[in-house]
Amino acid sequence: MARDKKLIIGNWKMNLGVHEASLYLHKLAEVVKVHRGVDVVIAPTVLAIQTLSLQVNYRQFKLAAQNFYWRDHGAFTGEVSASQLRGIVQYGLVGHSERRHVFQETDKDTRAKVQAAIRNGIRPILCIGETASEKAMNETNDALYDQLIGGLANVTSEELESVVIAYEPVWAIGTGNNAVPLDVAKAVRTIRHHLRHLYGTKAASAVQVIYGGSVTEHSAADYLSLPDIDGLLIGGASLDARAFAAIVEKAHNQEKVKR
Ligand code: 13P
Repeated sequence: MARDKKLIIGNWKMNLGVHEASLYLHKLAEVVKVHRGVDVVIAPTVLAIQTLSLQVNYRQFKLAAQNFYWRDHGAFTGEVSASQLRGIVQYGLVGHSERRHVFQETDKDTRAKVQAAIRNGIRPILCIGETASEKAMNETNDALYDQLIGGLANVTSEELESVVIAYEPVWAIGTGNNAVPLDVAKAVRTIRHHLRHLYGTKAASAVQVIYGGSVTEHSAADYLSLPDIDGLLIGGASLDARAFAAIVEKAHNQEKVKR
């Protein structure tokens, strides 16, 4: 997948019910412009995906699942599979810190979900990032490496093209304590270094790597102006249509500068 576009993803987490989500998408569609150089993705609650899929203009927005199970079918009460989401969502979050830390998902789960997404034509967004204590102990590099190996173990270099890596330091998520852009750029270079080691230069340099963690419309441009960072994964600020649209515009402005 080409890195010539910025990727802006709004993760609504467990906010907005079906009706609210639909109204919100309507509002969002009025304020977010379609730009050739920017892909805009929204990740609503699973309950609203079907409704939004009928309403959305896929030229304007793509849809993402926040979570899914890795088996395609079967007796797994309460779960939704990537094969059921196939054709409705184009992306799927995998290994989000809230999945890892609140729901105790392991690298093994993450790996299986990355596979399930790829098998079903869904681009996995593999989320990785160090905790506050790993950062304090200078273990960021190792944490990123372990999570990359853990999540990508069965992915071939051809398949890697469809994978997005989201660097989301755990301490920066929902805290208002966003990471310093130059530190993010450094972490992204580390991620790409690890990918090169695992897959070679060509495959590694084609992967989109994005940042998430307390990004607002005020801080977005500081990340988007750095060449290493291919986009943003927005939580809280994506629930404000005007702020989210402003972030998309910032991505567009950056792409314009490049062209
Ligand atoms: P916040 O932007 O609310 O920190 O959330 C980031 C995130 O977890 C996106 O997936």
